[in-house]
Amino acid sequence: MNTPAYDLDEVRRQIPILGTHIPMNNCSQAPQSDVTRAAALEYLASWAEDGMDWDTWIARTEQARAEFAAFVGADPADVAVAASVSQATSSVASALPWRGRRNRIVASGAEFPTVGHVWLAQERYGAVVDWVPVRDGAVEVEEYEKHIDDQTLVVSACRGYYQTGFKQDIPAIADLAHAKGALLFVDAYQTMGSEAFDAPSSGADFVTSGNLKFLMGIPGIAFLWVKPEITSRFEPSITGWFGRANPYAFETRRLDWAEGARRFDLGTPPIMEAYVAAAGMAWLRELGLEAIESWNTWLGQRCVEGALERGLDVLGPHDPARRAPTTAIVCDDAHAVEATLREQRIIASARGPAIRLAPHFYNSTDDVDRALDATAAAIRGE
Ligand SMILES: Cc1ncc(COP(=O)(O)O)c(C=O)c1O
Repeated sequence: MNTPAYDLDEVRRQIPILGTHIPMNNCSQAPQSDVTRAAALEYLASWAEDGMDWDTWIARTEQARAEFAAFVGADPADVAVAASVSQATSSVASALPWRGRRNRIVASGAEFPTVGHVWLAQERYGAVVDWVPVRDGAVEVEEYEKHIDDQTLVVSACRGYYQTGFKQDIPAIADLAHAKGALLFVDAYQTMGSEAFDAPSSGADFVTSGNLKFLMGIPGIAFLWVKPEITSRFEPSITGWFGRANPYAFETRRLDWAEGARRFDLGTPPIMEAYVAAAGMAWLRELGLEAIESWNTWLGQRCVEGALERGLDVLGPHDPARRAPTTAIVCDDAHAVEATLREQRIIASARGPAIRLAPHFYNSTDDVDRALDATAAAIRGE
């Protein structure tokens, strides 16, 4: 596969930094594009020229909600707008009843620390956290079976492991969770935007993601999809006026709940971030998630095979079907390697014992090969 189904040159023209750098750090922060920059400037212009235009600003936040919904094959009514994955996870945790006999959280060892921290913070309310181990950079589905029991309230399984790019089989984990009457919470931050993902058919009960990685956005906004059949069971204690049936009723002494996932909304939404998020997601959807996923699979596989050919050690499974585009290459001092690559205008992301190369839809095969050559040389100190 030498070219994606979309016009790669045209796509690359819309990402200015490609003129000078090779960005391969989508597992941390995606590059700025013309469409996301224009969206941010549109908000700034509105603020400068109109002073205040809440109707438009809130409408643009709704557009971002609808974009994320379309992204995961869902209805906007089933999506909440949050400020971060930490906050979305905290809101979910605050809505779960920890005091009963069913008080166990089964979390994969591959969760990003923030998700683990939120679950651990529930122990003061009676929750007990149990970890499913990571072995060789992956978590095998069978391991969940050993941990999920009829006292498990929620299973927490990220779709992509931030450290190795390993992708979990969400439908299989959902089956195990549901067989024991547990809910499934999925943090899809490390994959959302890099692949087609349909939340309603995934089996998950909650799916969250922020926007600054493969969704081509910026920090400050995240989304939470909640399975519509279960939403009315939840009344999060981490809440705010946008979670009310009518936020503009201004009834301080009355706590009611918005229909659908909106009950997980909190305070004034992240408006400027919503402009940017909507633009990034719309661009990706326009190009087509299937086409992006195929190209990313090719680039990811090129990374893995290229790293192995250069004698480097790659963490996690090598099978492309089990991987996000992120490839983690083992090195003694990942931060030093990141700095050396940076001097050569190659942007990679150090994490733990590895340097991560995370290409995305706009990268070329040549980008990957050049990044691998430079990484191999940096690791060998050449
Ligand atoms: C999988 C995953 N979840 C969550 C986060 C952080 O989420 P937030 O900072 O929005 O709370 C990250 C950030 O790197 C991540 O990779």
